[in-house]
Amino acid sequence: MEKIVALCKRRGFIFQSSEIYGGLNGAWDYGPLGVELKRNLKDYWWKCMTQLRDDIVGFDGSILMNAAVWKASGHVDTFSDPLVECMLTKKRYRADQIEPQSGTAYYYSGVFTKTKISRYDNTTYTKHSKPGSEGFFIELPFAVLAPKGKPEASAQKIARQFYADRGIAEADINDLDLEKSEPVENSTKFNPENGAQLSEPRVFNLMLKTYIGPVQDESSVTYLRPETAQAMFVQFKNVLDVTQKKLPFGIAQIGKAFRNEINPRNFTFRSREFEQMELEFFVKPGTGPEWLNKWLEERLAWYEAIGIPRAKIHVLTVPDKDRAFYSQGTYDLEYEFPFGIQELEGIAHRGNYDLKQHQEASGKPLEYFDEESKTKYLAEVVEPSAGVDRTVLAVLCEGYAEETIKDEESGKEETRVVLRFSPRLAPIKAGIFPLLKNKPELVAIAQSVYKTLQPLLKVVYADTAAIGRRYRRMDEIGTPFGITIDFETLEGAKEASTSAVGTPIAAGQKDTVTLRHRDSMKQERIVIADLPGYLLAKIA
Ligand code: GAP
Repeated sequence: MEKIVALCKRRGFIFQSSEIYGGLNGAWDYGPLGVELKRNLKDYWWKCMTQLRDDIVGFDGSILMNAAVWKASGHVDTFSDPLVECMLTKKRYRADQIEPQSGTAYYYSGVFTKTKISRYDNTTYTKHSKPGSEGFFIELPFAVLAPKGKPEASAQKIARQFYADRGIAEADINDLDLEKSEPVENSTKFNPENGAQLSEPRVFNLMLKTYIGPVQDESSVTYLRPETAQAMFVQFKNVLDVTQKKLPFGIAQIGKAFRNEINPRNFTFRSREFEQMELEFFVKPGTGPEWLNKWLEERLAWYEAIGIPRAKIHVLTVPDKDRAFYSQGTYDLEYEFPFGIQELEGIAHRGNYDLKQHQEASGKPLEYFDEESKTKYLAEVVEPSAGVDRTVLAVLCEGYAEETIKDEESGKEETRVVLRFSPRLAPIKAGIFPLLKNKPELVAIAQSVYKTLQPLLKVVYADTAAIGRRYRRMDEIGTPFGITIDFETLEGAKEASTSAVGTPIAAGQKDTVTLRHRDSMKQERIVIADLPGYLLAKIA
């Protein structure tokens, strides 16, 4: 993973947000190549959803919505995670993500008498009179887990730091009382990073709050949307009226979503600002389960089409206890990331939960009138919801390869780093190279090929460095094709061959160039006039 993160920065795919100010946790910027990759991914999803199908229409909702939307959708009351805090570092973690620990737990009473706590800020902690003793005492109990085989001293070191951080005098810390110790198995009450006790879980709403207008009070509160879906439910009726679609039909949207994640991590995988590609597919009551399975197959085929093999995607049937409360059935599509098998997309059968909630809360009918049966009802919804950033990350992980190869010119062994993007996603589709930059005839033809291709697809022109180096740089950013204008272009093909598009090339034919393939490094000749058609077919 470190190598992928380093490559992303070095070649301009992804940078840390606000880097020169120390960064902002959970936010990322896409550089010149990253933005192309991400855009190609979104365009392909959009094309598959809205261009290649007659039963889905596109939509682009606002990020800010009336706060009533989030109340009706259930996000205000239930979009939350249980949160625990490390009592030593104050760092917060999701309670359900704490890895169970085993070892010996040491419990310190942390009782200090008033005389001993002269430097202690007693406004923060309870001060009480201890039965049977004179005067006031301050009680700061704290426990530490020492992993199996570690002595108490290692736990005490953490405890001492805990008391010192709270201003307890060193002399008092030296009197630290160990109340008890006990073996623990698979406990989630201690921080796996340092053994310190964790607080009891507290519920933490993940929506990012903001205020609309100049007055910042409860009436002006709203939220940055935590999913794109809700605007599509709220506008269901408007979309239906203007398109006159019949069930089943879908509304598709790509856009930003925001979640105040407790623990953003794994590069862009869990961010606080991210993009979603969501489809709300409205179906007749009772047909939800059937459509859920259809969409599972559709989405698996889509991942194959962007270069993520079926074997790398794990389909999890989410058990009842783990499903969102609105869901009647969910599949998670998970990818084998280097940091573990993790969710890329959720496909949920949401029933009529959302339309029902919004109909009730707004008082506006959101029912569908069925011409055939002459009845009105609420449609059910099947929702394939994918993360743009997670899919970009999966594409980067899937594409990254290191190979030992022989240099195409010198024959020496070297390591080649290559991003094996599918051509339809590659940020740059082809590099155009004159073999030598000081040969005006080569440069003129290369420039003309470049100018012909530039309006059609993203290509770059490069004339510096040896041709092998230029190929290697293109390999590292995932450019699938290299087009080299060489002496055979000027003097005619050395021998007869079959061109890349299958047509014959005669010995001595002058209108050909070398076409080099990134993955196989194979080189063949192609007629210049065939280049646009050949390349466009590869990226469609
Ligand atoms: N409308 C349903 C919904 O939002 P979700 O499972 O919470 O469902 C859908 O999110 C997808 O959005 C996830 O599968 C994931 O790809 C992406 N996603 C969710 N939270 C994310 C985060 N914090 N960072 C990056 N992507 C995230």
